[in-house]
Amino acid sequence: MDEERSRYHIQTYGCQMNEHDSEVLAGILEDEGFVAADDISEAEVVLVNTCCVRESAEQRILGELGRLKRLKYENPDVIMGVCGCMVMNDRSLKEIRRRASHVDFVLGTNQLHRLPEFLRRARCDRAFVLERDREYDVLPTDLPRRRASGVRAWVPIIYGCSNFCSYCIVPHVRGPENSRLPEEIEEDVRSLAGDGVREITLLGQNVNSYGMDLERDVSFADLLERVDAVPGIRWVRYTTSHPRDYDFDLVDRIARLESVCEHFHLPVQSGSNRILEEMNRGYTREQYLDLIEYIRRIHPESAITTDVIVGFPGETEDDFADTYSLFEKVQYDNAFAFLYSPRSGTRAADLSGQVPREVKGERLDLLNQLQRKISHRRNQELAGREMTVLVDGPSQRDPSVMSGRTRTNKLVLLPGAGQWENQFVRVRIHRAEPYQLVGQLCDHED
Ligand code: SAH
Ligand code: SF4
Ligand code: F3S
Repeated sequence: MDEERSRYHIQTYGCQMNEHDSEVLAGILEDEGFVAADDISEAEVVLVNTCCVRESAEQRILGELGRLKRLKYENPDVIMGVCGCMVMNDRSLKEIRRRASHVDFVLGTNQLHRLPEFLRRARCDRAFVLERDREYDVLPTDLPRRRASGVRAWVPIIYGCSNFCSYCIVPHVRGPENSRLPEEIEEDVRSLAGDGVREITLLGQNVNSYGMDLERDVSFADLLERVDAVPGIRWVRYTTSHPRDYDFDLVDRIARLESVCEHFHLPVQSGSNRILEEMNRGYTREQYLDLIEYIRRIHPESAITTDVIVGFPGETEDDFADTYSLFEKVQYDNAFAFLYSPRSGTRAADLSGQVPREVKGERLDLLNQLQRKISHRRNQELAGREMTVLVDGPSQRDPSVMSGRTRTNKLVLLPGAGQWENQFVRVRIHRAEPYQLVGQLCDHED
C-alpha cells in the first residue's frame, strides 16, 4: 500500500523553531497522504527549510539548492519548495530566484498551513508560486505534526522577536513577538503527554518576554508553573532566554518546579559593556555576572551555557579581552561562539569599524580553545557520578552506542546497541570528554 504513496523529504537548517516548523510541514504532508522518503532520491516533494541568521548558513543552503538541481533534472516531476527565514528576507529570496530557478514554490514562515494549496498550484501551472504574506498573521494552532521523537517535543510559546539586537536579522524575518495563549499551550502539552511525550522544550526567540504582548497578566514563570503541573511531563526545557529579562524571581520560582531542568542557556553575546550597548542587549557585564552568581547559588548543580559573537563592528583587543575574561570567570559548561556576520538591513551592518576576517578568526580560535578546556574540566567534575539520562537512540557516529541527555543537557554515550530508546535510565559516568560523557547503566531502575 505504502509503495504507491508519494514520498517527501525535508531538509532543515537553523534553530529549534525551524525544526519544529519542519515537523508541522511533515505533519501536513502526511495528512495529505504522503510518506517520508528513506532517501531524497525517492522523494516527489522536496522541501528545504532555511535559515539566514549568518552568511555562512545562507551560502551552505544556496549550495545545497544548487545541488538539488540535478535531482530535478533527473526527474522533472519532483516538486521543490523552499520555506523558512530566507523566504522572509527580500535579499535572500532574490538570491534563491536567481540561483535556483528549479525551485517550484516558496512558502513563508507564517504560511505553513497553505502548503497543500501551494503544492497543488505548483503541480498544475509550474510557474514559480510566490505569494508571501506581508502580514505576520497568527498561524492556526491545530496544525498536524509529525514528531521526530516519541518522548520529546517542541512547544512554541512565542513567535517572532521584538528585541532588535543590532546584529540580528531574526526580528526582520520572523516579525514582532506574538505569544500563544497559556490555555492553548497547556492544552497542547496535555495532549502531548497523552501521546507519551515525557520531555518538552518551550520555544521562543526570547521566552522570557512571554506574555508581555498579551492583554492578560501572565508571565513566563506563570506559564512554567502551569506546564509543570501537567501530569506525565517529567522534564521541561526552554530556549532561548534573554539575560535582560531573566530575573532573580524566575530563578527562585524554577527552583520550586520539579520538572524544569537545571540548564540555563543565557546568551551573553559579548563581555564588553561598550559592545553590549552597541548590540542593544539591554544589560551590562556586571548585571549578567550577578545573574550567573545567583543561579549558581540557588541551583548549584546546574549547567550554564551561552552564545557569543566575536568581531562585532568596532570590537577592539580590549573588548575581546573582556569577553575572554568573562568566559574565565563564568566557567560555562558549553558555549557556541560565532564570527560576526553582517546582515543587510540590520543596524550593525552599517557601522564603521568592521573587524577584518583574520582578526575575527584568531579571536574565535582563542575563545574556543579556552572554552574547550573549561568544558572538559566541568565534565570531569561529573566523573563517578550517577545521573538520570533520557535515551534518544543510537549515536549518529556509532550505532553500537546509545546517546541521550541529562537534565543539564549533557550528551551521554552508553555502550549497548538498540537498548533503552526513549527511556529514562540511571547511568554512572566513567569518562568525561570536553563535549560528552561516557557512562554505564546502573543495575537499579531509575
Ligand atoms: N533568540 C536567540 C537566538 C538567536 S540566533 C537569542 O537571542 O539568543 C542564535 C545566535 O546566533 C545568537 O545568540 C547569536 O549569538 C548568533 N547570531 C545572531 N545574529 C548573528 C550575526 N549577525 N552574526 C553572528 N552571529 C549571530
Ligand atoms: Fe535576535 Fe536578539 Fe531577538 Fe535573539 S533576542 S532573536 S539575538 S534580536
Ligand atoms: Fe535561523 Fe530563522 Fe532560526 S534565521 S536561527 S531559522 S529564526
